[in-house]
This record gives sequence, structure tokens and C-alpha cells, in this order.
Amino acid sequence: MTHTTTAPAGIMGRLKSETAAQHAVAEAKPLEAALIAGAIGHEQYRKYLAQRWLIHRELEAATDRALAADARLAALGLPGLYQTANLEADLAHLGVDTATIKPMAGAEALLGLIRDADSSAPLMGIYYVFEGSKNGARFIARALAKAWGKTDLDGLKYLDPHGEAQRGLWMKFREDMNAIAWSDDEQDGMVKAAQTTFDAISALDDEIHAG
Ligand code: HEM
Repeated sequence: MTHTTTAPAGIMGRLKSETAAQHAVAEAKPLEAALIAGAIGHEQYRKYLAQRWLIHRELEAATDRALAADARLAALGLPGLYQTANLEADLAHLGVDTATIKPMAGAEALLGLIRDADSSAPLMGIYYVFEGSKNGARFIARALAKAWGKTDLDGLKYLDPHGEAQRGLWMKFREDMNAIAWSDDEQDGMVKAAQTTFDAISALDDEIHAG
């Protein structure tokens, strides 16, 4: 018996291994490369945050509805992880009026995906991608702070919402997600939604990078 090809246990193991190829694609996108190099311009950064605001606003409203409909989600403490308020603080700091923000095609696709997520499983597939992205985003926040000579988090709250608590919160999210008794069908739907989300984010990154 060999253990070398054994997938990690639980739904979080499936999500990680079955979106690994897409994470590699997303991470290598020119926009992400510019972010991690601290080499993004303020205008492009504003655009990036603005599109993320549209997405998180929709995602968190849908999550509120799912929390009311599915008691299994309560243990995840999702409202404590929400990002809409952080994005609004960042955008206000950068002088962007949220009333002027219009969805680009990639964001429109994600908004549709969120609206079409008719139960907690696909919704949590989408949620997983954005929650997991906080792991790499902390490094981006550090790179941008350095590049822009900043010593505070003004304008960078979305990228580093939890500071030193990030690792522990991610471990808790993983454990709580694995503790929920997702059916096989739910797991399949969740993985599919996560894959679609990664593809849409990569497309949106390209759109933003193209200007
Ligand atoms: C510069 C770009 C990026 C870098 C450097 C980066 C880096 C990382 C790192 C270091 C981790 C933690 C791995 C671990 O500790 O297990 C991670 C996890 C993750 N990232 Fe990224 N990432 C980037 C872009 C993205 C993007 C654009 C998304 C999607 C919006 C994303 C979604 C995720 C997810 C879902 C996880 C969790 C994987 C798991 O299940 O363990 N990342 N990333």
C-alpha cells in the first residue's frame, strides 16, 4: 500500500487539491505578479479593490441568507470574516466613491455565479476561494506597504484584515468546514463552484491588468 497519492482528508483537502492547478494559474497572472512585487499603480489597485467590493458585497449578502437557511454554517463564524467593510474603508481612503463602481465582465460573471448558488454548498465553494486568498494577500499587503513607504494599514485592510490572527483563523475555517457533514453531491458542487470562481477571478485579473 502506498500513501504517496492519497488526497488530503475532508472537503478542505478536496478543495485544495482539486483547485491547485487553478491556484497556480491565478497566482501567475500578471496582475497578481505585479501585486506581490509591489509594482502595481494606484489606479490599477483602485480598480482591483473596486471590483472586489462588488463581489464581496454580493457574496456576503448571499452568505447572510445562507446562514439563516442552513444551521450547519453557524459554527464557521462567517460574519467575523467578512470583507465588505474593509473594502469600503480602503476605497474611502483612496478616494473612490462606491456609487461610481461598475462591474467589469469578470466581476459580472462572479456576481452571476453567486446569485445562481442556490444552496450553501456552491456558495461555500465560492467563499472558500476568497477566504483562502487571504493567505497570500498578507504578503501582497507587505509588498505594497514597502513599495509605497507606508507604516500603517490605511488602504490595505482588505489585503491584511486579520494581521497575526490570519493563520489561526484559516486553521479554524479549515477545521469547521471539515466538521460539517457535506454529502457527496454537495462536495462535488462545492468543488465545481470553487473551480469556476478561480477561473472567473483569473479572467477578471486579466481584464484589470489590460486596463
Ligand atoms: C500573488 C498571488 C498569490 C500568492 C503569492 C498566493 C499565495 C498563497 C499562499 C502562500 C497560500 C497558503 C498555502 C498554505 O499555507 O497552505 C495560499 C493559499 C490559497 N490561496 Fe493564494 N496566492 C495568490 C493568489 C491567489 C488568488 C488570486 C486566489 C483567489 C482569489 C488565491 C486563493 C487561495 C486559496 C483558496 C488558498 C487556500 C488553499 C488551501 O486550500 O489550502 N490565491 N495562497
